[in-house]
Amino acid sequence: NKQIQVGILGFGTVGSGVIRILKDHNAKIRQVTGEEISVKKVLVRDIEKNRGKISEGIQLTTNEDEVLADPEIDVILEVMGSIDSAKMYITKALKAGKHVVTANKDLIALHGNELVALAKENQCDLYYEASVAGGIPILRTIVDSLASDNIQQVMGIVNGTTNFMLTKMTNEHQSYEEALKEAQELGFAESDPTNDVDGIDAARKMVILTRLAFGMNVELDQIETKGIRNLKSIDIETAKKLGYRIKLIGTAEENNGGVSVSVGPILVPEAHPLASVQNENNAVFVVGAAVGETMFYGPGAGELPTATSVVSDLITVAKNIRLGTTGNVFNSYQHETKLMTDEE
Ligand code: NAP
Ligand code: HSE
Repeated sequence: NKQIQVGILGFGTVGSGVIRILKDHNAKIRQVTGEEISVKKVLVRDIEKNRGKISEGIQLTTNEDEVLADPEIDVILEVMGSIDSAKMYITKALKAGKHVVTANKDLIALHGNELVALAKENQCDLYYEASVAGGIPILRTIVDSLASDNIQQVMGIVNGTTNFMLTKMTNEHQSYEEALKEAQELGFAESDPTNDVDGIDAARKMVILTRLAFGMNVELDQIETKGIRNLKSIDIETAKKLGYRIKLIGTAEENNGGVSVSVGPILVPEAHPLASVQNENNAVFVVGAAVGETMFYGPGAGELPTATSVVSDLITVAKNIRLGTTGNVFNSYQHETKLMTDEE
């Protein structure tokens, strides 16, 4: 058996989860891939940080070249975040012929097309399942399981922080400030929660979903985006009395021969499956011309759920290496269609 050697960029929440899953599920992973996967080196910022028992036996470095230029490393898992450094490291990895898995929605929303082109050019795999809705396997579902269908609508609760806040404001009558503080304490929010509460994190995820579901490229600033910052308890109470729940929903849907994309708080009827999605959970409701209504539900963030998606991408890469069929990415479908805006 060939051994697949992995380099990881980042040993935070997601990186620790990846190492935990690779250790705990080792026997199953070896069986389904037919390969032994081992972590050769992990890039961190602070080598002195106490990372507990999970880091035992793991070689850490603060020098990215020790990972990116190591000829024995076949696959890079980017779970460090940021846009510029992550882009630079992934570019370097792909140019060196290494396959890449990333959880970085900010990077993929902004530079996904460029990185996909680079991956194909270098016959490398590039997967990013964890970038949207953490532990829910939604990208592979759209690209593979629904490949035969024409998708008409994607509606997603794709930001856990705001869904948690709205749940607390609805069920426990918390104020906006109390709910945000609790979401930050529980670690769902981004380091700057502006991106969560203003809908930007959800809009980035909708850029990725729109690309894959409709084959259409939309830029972040073309998405009409509203957050939940101005929502008051009275809005939530009134909606509830009228039989609705307020949810922050990202929508991409066919509209007059084009596709419209938006993010904002909307009134969801209590009977709609998205209304029952509670706390930090995510859900993506997909309507296909043939399949009809489907919904995919689960944890949108967190150590093990997010790492599950990263390691599943890694398993796909390992299988492709074994079969000699690398050079695969999620974006294989492109469709000339018009972005519909409010004015149209
Ligand atoms: P995190 O806990 O902040 O961990 C980041 C890790 O990367 C740390 O180990 C840090 O090193 C390292 N790092 C950051 N910048 C670095 C640099 N320039 N050079 C070297 N090392 C660097 O982040 P996370 O929550 O695991 O998130 C990682 C990625 O996954 C992000 O793109 C995020 O958007 C995405 N994601 C996260 C979740 C989630 O639930 N957390 C869900 C979906 C997607 P030190 O440990 O030395 O500081
Ligand atoms: N801040 C993000 C959220 C983390 O709340 O959904 C997962 O992308």
